[in-house]
Amino acid sequence: MSDTPSSTRNSRRALKGAFITFEGIDGCGKTTQARLLADKLKAHDFSVVETREPGGTQIGREIRDIVLATRNTFISRSLSSDRLNIRAIQPTSQLLLFLADRIQHINEIIRPAIESGKVVICDRYHDATIAYQKYGGELNLDILEPLITEEITPTKPDLTFWLDIDEGKARERTHIGDSPAIQLSFLLELGANFDLENDIAIDKLSAKLINSTKSRPQQIQLRYLRRIRKGYAALHKADKNRIEKIDGSKTIEEVQSIIWENLTRRFHVL
Ligand code: TYD
Repeated sequence: MSDTPSSTRNSRRALKGAFITFEGIDGCGKTTQARLLADKLKAHDFSVVETREPGGTQIGREIRDIVLATRNTFISRSLSSDRLNIRAIQPTSQLLLFLADRIQHINEIIRPAIESGKVVICDRYHDATIAYQKYGGELNLDILEPLITEEITPTKPDLTFWLDIDEGKARERTHIGDSPAIQLSFLLELGANFDLENDIAIDKLSAKLINSTKSRPQQIQLRYLRRIRKGYAALHKADKNRIEKIDGSKTIEEVQSIIWENLTRRFHVL
C-alpha cells in the first residue's frame, strides 16, 4: 500500500457535515457496506443519517412504489387470448420520478442534515441516474440539465464509493431478472415506445418475444448491466477525486476495511 501523500493528509477535512454515497450495479453489496460504515461511524460518536434513493422520504417511498413496482413494468402473455399483456412505465416517466424523488430527498433530508453537521450516508444518488438512465437506458438527459444544475448539482457528494463488480457476478448474486429496472430494459430492447392502445404494435412485439430464445432475456440483462457499469466507469474517470472505485468482488470484510482506510485518509475521523 502506498504512503499517504502529504498533500492529501493536509487537505483532510472534518467528517461532520459530509455527504457520502454508495453506488454500483445491482448485487454489488453497497447496501451492506453503507450500513456497516454507518454503524462504525456511530460507534465513533458521529451523528449519522442513513438514507437511500429512491425512497428516502415519505413522498419518495410513494414514488419508489410507482417507479419500481413490478406491476408497472411487466410483460406477460395472456394464456386465454395468447395476447401480450403490457403495462410499462415509460422510461422518461421513470427518469422524471427518480429526479422528483431526489429533489424531495435533498430538500427534506440531505441538505438539512449536512447543514446541521450530521454525516449523511446515502445508498445511491444522482450517479445512479447517469449510470442507469443515461447509459443503461440510453436516455438523453441534456434537456433536463437546467433543472439538474439548479436543484441537484449544488448538493454534491463529498465522497462516493463505487463498488464495482462485473455483470456475471451481479447475476450470480441477485435475481436481477426479477428487478423492475431489468424488466424495463427488456422492454426498452424490444422497443418500448409503442402505443399501448395499438394492437398491431403489440402484436409485432409479441411476435418478437415469442421468437426470442430462453437465453435472450439473460443476454439483454447482461448487456444492460454492462452499459450501466460503463456509465459508472465514465463517471469515475471524470471525477476520480470524488469517486473511489472499489473491487466489490472482495469479501465483505475486505471491502469494509478498504472503505474505512479511504475514509480516514480523506477525513479526520479518529
Ligand atoms: P436499490 O434500492 O439500490 O435496489 P435494491 O432494492 O436491490 O436495494 O435500487 C433500486 C433500483 O432502482 C435499482 O435497480 C437501480 C434503480 N435506480 C435507477 O435506475 N435510477 C436511479 O436514479 C436510482 C436512484 C435507482
